[in-house]
Amino acid sequence: MFALELKNISKTFGSFKANDGISLSVKCGEVHAILGENGAGKSTLMKIIFGLYQPDIGGEIFLKGQKVTISNPRFAIKNGIGMVHQHFMLVRPFSILQNIILGVEPRKWFGIVDYKAARKQVNELSKTYNFNIEPDRIVETISVGMQQKVEIIKTLYRNAELIILDEPTASLTPQEVLDFYRIVENLKRLGKTIIIITHKLHEIKEIADRCTIIRKGQFIETVDVSSTSEEELAAKMVGRIVDLKVSKSNANPGEIIFSVKDLCVLNDKLFLKVNHFNLDLRRGEILGLAGIDGNGQRELVEALSGLRKIKSGSIKLNNREISNLTPRQIYESKLAMIPEDRQRRGLVLDFQVKDNFVLQRIEKSPFSHYGFIITREIEKFADTMMERFDIRPRNIELNARNLSGGNQQKIILAREIANNPDVLIAFQPTRGLDVGAIEYIHQELIKLRDQGKAILLISYELDEVINLSDRIAVIIDGAVSANLSEETLATHKNIKEHIGLFMAGGKA
Ligand SMILES: Nc1ncnc2c1ncn2[C@@H]1O[C@H](COP(=O)(O)OP(=O)(O)OP(=O)(O)O)[C@@H](O)[C@H]1O
Ligand SMILES: [Mg+2]
Repeated sequence: MFALELKNISKTFGSFKANDGISLSVKCGEVHAILGENGAGKSTLMKIIFGLYQPDIGGEIFLKGQKVTISNPRFAIKNGIGMVHQHFMLVRPFSILQNIILGVEPRKWFGIVDYKAARKQVNELSKTYNFNIEPDRIVETISVGMQQKVEIIKTLYRNAELIILDEPTASLTPQEVLDFYRIVENLKRLGKTIIIITHKLHEIKEIADRCTIIRKGQFIETVDVSSTSEEELAAKMVGRIVDLKVSKSNANPGEIIFSVKDLCVLNDKLFLKVNHFNLDLRRGEILGLAGIDGNGQRELVEALSGLRKIKSGSIKLNNREISNLTPRQIYESKLAMIPEDRQRRGLVLDFQVKDNFVLQRIEKSPFSHYGFIITREIEKFADTMMERFDIRPRNIELNARNLSGGNQQKIILAREIANNPDVLIAFQPTRGLDVGAIEYIHQELIKLRDQGKAILLISYELDEVINLSDRIAVIIDGAVSANLSEETLATHKNIKEHIGLFMAGGKA
């Protein structure tokens, strides 16, 4: 029996076909992965299933064999469909409990919300699924992994039988990902059907039963996961063989260009999050900073880019002290930055794509002349970038909000790389990108390195750090706890486990 069947689903935005005659079936109780490049139309298709978009005329949807018209999310929820979106939809100043029951609050007399009943039910769900949530915590203060769980409980609280997860692990730490796998196993054991979008091929192998591949809005194939390899999946998705390993020559480091000495930085609650941090970065090298989320990476990056005042220490770029300068002054000293949170720090979502390309430079030549904005130049630049970084669709007039997650990320990468920085700080640069795009971005970063630029790569993905870096430093509790040379990286047999140990608190 199929939990869900889609027949000939299309969705057109203007003249652009985001979904083009897609048909697929999801079996009851299976974990069904959806794989496709950035912009292939995955989120759009999921939004149709959840009633956020209507398909074009001619498409049909069946739930357990019954033909339905999912006219809005309310209908979807009523019929047992739940969705966790690619970018979370929680109300940040509300508590976990308030978020979970939002819109379906149990009521007592006179319509007063019955928090006691709600808390009881939420606690039971939390226990059944091993979630360990604290219902009264404010969402703003909890980790992304916890927010993920809240989103999932939210669907369970509404009795979802079919749960759609749009890139659930894109921003989880490796530990949180393991938790997440267990949650999926649990959901499956308790009879739920799951559709999951992910760009991580090993994850599909790990948790999915079947996988449907979509390319440029079209259905390509549904495969049994157990009888296919990661390489095959990648090739089917992109339509060519993808190099899953980074190939790069040895680094050729020059003089020190960026130097951080004894840096101390406080977080908002005045905890010392960066604690006598030291680092030297040379021209022509990629230095990877490995570490578990929450060890001061965020505060470090904010201090380096001028978003957070430092407590003590120094940050020198080209021998000039840049600590406590404004973000603009730092940017103009040729330090570029790929921020962790693309939607809140990287883009202005309600600006057009073309304007997002020149956010920091719009008043500079050639984009402005005597105070007048030269739209022609901005458009020319934007068009070139769209082509070079294969950002889809090639429409610079769209608002950034209407681009797929991965394509939003590519705009930031393109903008920062094109600014020709001396130092690039790349915080989770390939989050949410498909394997083909990751391959491309990695090559671009290596190219930048080979032009004598210095790159500081900060990532929770140990694989990415190991693959891309020439040297690696490990950060724990706001300080560097280990340094691994290029030679160690090249010769150590179990480098991943070795670094993993340092990350978990082992001493060098
Ligand atoms: N509201 C909209 N208006 C115009 N175009 C849109 C709109 N929503 C989506 N699109 C376009 O449809 C295409 C598919 O987008 P979608 O978000 O479904 O991609 P995706 O497969 O989820 O990609 P990613 O892996 O990057 O998240 C994209 O090219 C996007 O720009
Ligand atoms: Mg998407």
